Amino acid sequence: MVKITFIEPDGTEKHVEASAGISLMEAATRNGVQGIAAECGGQCSCATCHVYIEGDFFEQVGPPEGDEEDMLDFSDSRQANSRLGCQVPVSDEYSGMVVRVVGDDG
Ligand code: FES
Repeated sequence: MVKITFIEPDGTEKHVEASAGISLMEAATRNGVQGIAAECGGQCSCATCHVYIEGDFFEQVGPPEGDEEDMLDFSDSRQANSRLGCQVPVSDEYSGMVVRVVGDDG
């Protein structure tokens, strides 16, 4: 299992353990993390799973591409470390990752 800390929009930290291979969005929603509506169910078409990957982990995860890049372009909350949670598969190397949830529909 991979230990990930999600920081909810109100600042609450949730420590979860996720299986490698599921998405960050799934890891969050399965563990009751607030602020991820995931309205499209992971189809990269809603941006309600917008998160910021904190620290050096963003380089490991890498930048968005293709449709995800296009979706993030529509977000006023976009930052250099933005990703859509449904497009980031959890990897064993991500243990200790901190993910800040944007909330407010991305
Ligand atoms: S859940 Fe809709 S874009 Fe990620």
